[in-house]
Amino acid sequence: MKALVKAASAAGLSLVDVDTPPIARDDVLIRILKTAICGTDVHIWEWDDWARRTVPVPMVVGHEYVGVIAAVGDGVLGLEKGQLVSGEGHVVCGRCRNCRAGLRHLCANTVSVGSTRPGAFAEYLALPASNVWPLDDAIPLEVASLFDALGNATHTALAFNLIGEDVLITGAGPIGCMAAAIARHVGARHVVVTDVNPYRLDLARASGASLALDVRSAGLDEAMTRLEMREGFDVGLEMSGNPEALRSMLAVMRSGGRMALLGFLEGSQAIEWERVIFGGLTLKGIYGREIFETWYKMTAMVQGGLDVSPVITHRFPYTEFEAAFDVMRSGRSGKVILEWSER
Ligand SMILES: NC(=O)c1ccc[n+]([C@@H]2O[C@H](COP(=O)([O-])OP(=O)(O)OC[C@H]3O[C@@H](n4cnc5c(N)ncnc54)[C@H](O)[C@@H]3O)[C@@H](O)[C@H]2O)c1
Ligand SMILES: [Zn+2]
Ligand SMILES: [Zn+2]
Repeated sequence: MKALVKAASAAGLSLVDVDTPPIARDDVLIRILKTAICGTDVHIWEWDDWARRTVPVPMVVGHEYVGVIAAVGDGVLGLEKGQLVSGEGHVVCGRCRNCRAGLRHLCANTVSVGSTRPGAFAEYLALPASNVWPLDDAIPLEVASLFDALGNATHTALAFNLIGEDVLITGAGPIGCMAAAIARHVGARHVVVTDVNPYRLDLARASGASLALDVRSAGLDEAMTRLEMREGFDVGLEMSGNPEALRSMLAVMRSGGRMALLGFLEGSQAIEWERVIFGGLTLKGIYGREIFETWYKMTAMVQGGLDVSPVITHRFPYTEFEAAFDVMRSGRSGKVILEWSER
């Protein structure tokens, strides 16, 4: 089969022939239709320090996809050939304390599709049946292809109750924009999204932000004045991974406010602990997706009218993967879809 592979310890990826993965007794084989490029794939393309430390080569990359079950192992119950599916990319052990407590997203022994086990940017993917998420035909295929990322947005946005709240989202990447759409869908009042990239701020507006603010030229206090907010934001969703964005969020939170932190902040970062302590703020780190409560909620929200299609900006066939990664790396894109063919 054809697959996009990190073939050697260097920047770039190659489209090459590899063996179709064998399936074990409890696995399914998924024929991949459409996939979406994630920031993680860009790190692997660029072969930065994280990627070098994490990804053994050669490795088939990619973890956001939709496909059709092509074969099921002998031990698989309740799934069948021909079913439309996506799947959770974190393969967990099922035996550690968190797994046994139902906190599988915090498994101590997680292996990740497309970085530490063979990925989905391929014609076929082998996956444990317990990771498969069956899909309803009513879900647009392109949206289904990015469920992994929509799951990150869902997990973060639903960490705290947003009904009637004023929400600040720092970072208008695909995940920040999808979180804005969710915040609107579930009934937030104001949804302010910040970024430093005008293209991305336009995507945030298209996704339903009340106000999209370029923090290079406008402060959050200005946003609060324009929206006649007096006491600060009730809920903050940090989705940029930028330490300055985190610090600016802390400064505008209402006392008693809640913050969910998804963006990867590197190293140790100083923050104003006084704001956290005297302001009685709650900070929650978010990793991955709750398995499978997040999948349930995002599916139900899409079935109920949540529209994240504005974040999908580009589509390429696999033969043009280099152009697809170029546009993704330029910052002038939302989600970029790679597809094997129109099926
Ligand atoms: N915790 C997890 O499990 C998990 C999972 C997926 C992604 N992530 C992280 O979540 C974040 C969002 O993912 P994404 O794919 O949308 O990333 P992205 O890199 O596409 O988007 C981040 C955005 O933040 C913007 N930004 C930079 N500096 C800023 C500032 N000072 N203020 C406001 N915005 C600023 C960037 O211009 C960019 O548009 C990333 O940091 C990613 O690594 C975490
Ligand atoms: Zn992803
Ligand atoms: Zn575990």
